Amino acid sequence: MLKLNYLNYILIALIGLAICESQKPQEVAVESLDCRKNTCMGLDFPIASKIAYFSEEVTNNLREYESLILHSSHLANLPRKVFLNLPQLVEFDVLECHLQQVERECFEGAENLKILNLGGNNIRVLESNTFELATQLEELNLSDNQLEELPANIFLSLNKLKKINFSNNQLKTISLNTFSKLGSLKSINLDSNKLVELPGELFRDQRKHLTNFSARSNRLEGIPSNIFSEIEGLFLSFNPQLKSLHLTANMDLLQATNCGLESVKLDGRVIGVQLEDNLNLKELKISQPQDLEQLYLANTNLTRLEFLPKASKLVDLDLTGIENLSDLPKISSAKGLERLSFTYDNITSDHMDMLPQLKDLNYLEISHDKGREIFIKDLDEDFFVDEAELDCGQLADLLEFVELPKDTTILEDRLVGDPRRPLRCGAA
Ligand SMILES: *[C@@H]1O[C@H](CO)[C@@H](O)[C@H](O)[C@H]1NC(C)=O
Ligand SMILES: *[C@@H]1O[C@H](CO)[C@@H](O)[C@H](O)[C@H]1NC(C)=O
Ligand SMILES: *[C@@H]1O[C@H](CO)[C@@H](O)[C@H](O)[C@H]1NC(C)=O
Ligand SMILES: *[C@@H]1O[C@H](CO)[C@@H](O)[C@H](O)[C@H]1NC(C)=O
Ligand SMILES: *[C@@H]1O[C@H](CO)[C@@H](O)[C@H](O)[C@H]1NC(C)=O
Ligand SMILES: *[C@@H]1O[C@H](CO)[C@@H](O)[C@H](O)[C@H]1NC(C)=O
Repeated sequence: MLKLNYLNYILIALIGLAICESQKPQEVAVESLDCRKNTCMGLDFPIASKIAYFSEEVTNNLREYESLILHSSHLANLPRKVFLNLPQLVEFDVLECHLQQVERECFEGAENLKILNLGGNNIRVLESNTFELATQLEELNLSDNQLEELPANIFLSLNKLKKINFSNNQLKTISLNTFSKLGSLKSINLDSNKLVELPGELFRDQRKHLTNFSARSNRLEGIPSNIFSEIEGLFLSFNPQLKSLHLTANMDLLQATNCGLESVKLDGRVIGVQLEDNLNLKELKISQPQDLEQLYLANTNLTRLEFLPKASKLVDLDLTGIENLSDLPKISSAKGLERLSFTYDNITSDHMDMLPQLKDLNYLEISHDKGREIFIKDLDEDFFVDEAELDCGQLADLLEFVELPKDTTILEDRLVGDPRRPLRCGAA
């Protein structure tokens, strides 16, 4: 009985080895490179069982460049010996080359590599040691690939990593330790994946210095309230399953438009909040409104904005598409308001006397059942006066951050009675 087990064991081990052996791709030398300066194309190694390698001769003309770009090629495997022959490379881009596999060995000699861009390929799987030898890596771009998961330790040896871009993949989960010990990480982009949740402790090693986190167009159902403590930009738009959001972080900008949000509670210091097109949003609580500068709430179902009287630093406020907003008059305490958009109805109509109090207002957009009106204060006398031949381009320059809504008719106050027709700007 014992003997039989032993035999079984040997047999399984042998099968295992045989499979591994058969997967090792066969090395094929790249015989010539078609390059303009440091951009090479036309490499044709489409079979996964063959791996191209760069020889010393073929890389001769590339020694002076700090970056190398491969594109318009068919490379099932990332080529070998690139860095052994070109150790000076700081950046390596392999773009739209149908890349499927990336071997650990490819990064032998990559001691200066800081930027690796493998965007727009067919990478489905990465091993946990894939980038182990690229220890100086600061920026990693794997957007537009087919990744379904990330091995937990994949970034473990990359403690200089600053920017990660995994947008447009098929990621369903991110495990708790994915970013652990990455003390330099500043920006993470996970847009257009299939993420449903994020572990609460995911950024425990980045609490203080993560600048931007973006997970737009996913399937997020919730965000742990204390996942961040300090972040510049948090981008969560187009997560239709996201119904409620409670965050304690200090944030420069929160963007969560076009979600299914019903309730939002922000306890930290927030400067910019963009929540437009959350048609079910009926509750918004901001505990530190005194720091708010920008607030976009167009097309939400809010009725009260209790915090408005305290939002004294507001510069930019969009309340378009909120009907019956009884708190609108309270914005008169935002003395520095420069841009205001709202929908005019029977309730707001009684309170328009707050407008003259807003001395800095230079852009006013009023929507009502017949359309929209935009009023622009003449900031620069010379700008309109003489010819009054304002064109849409100039207007866009003047408004800077404001995107003109489609089919907007713009009437300039000075031109009342002017026979010229109103100007049409916007998307058209
Ligand atoms: C990342 O790769 C994508 C190609 O898929 C490209 O569009 C994008 O500009 C790259 N980003 C950076 C920062 O290089
Ligand atoms: C990430 O890549 C996408 C293209 O796939 C690009 O649009 C985006 O700007 C990149 N983001 C960062 C932070 O590099
Ligand atoms: C963070 O996002 C802001 C706003 O979109 C952008 O201006 C800034 O360049 C981003 N920073 C990094 C490090 O990606
Ligand atoms: C908006 O709120 C009203 C009253 O609170 C409710 O009847 C209506 O269904 C809500 N609309 C949406 C789109 O949630
Ligand atoms: C706004 O108020 C009017 C009447 O006061 C009411 O008919 C209408 O349904 C209200 N709209 C919303 C979205 O609550
Ligand atoms: C709004 O006011 C107008 C006239 O002042 C009135 O005809 C109309 O019925 C009112 N609409 C609502 C929804 O109260």
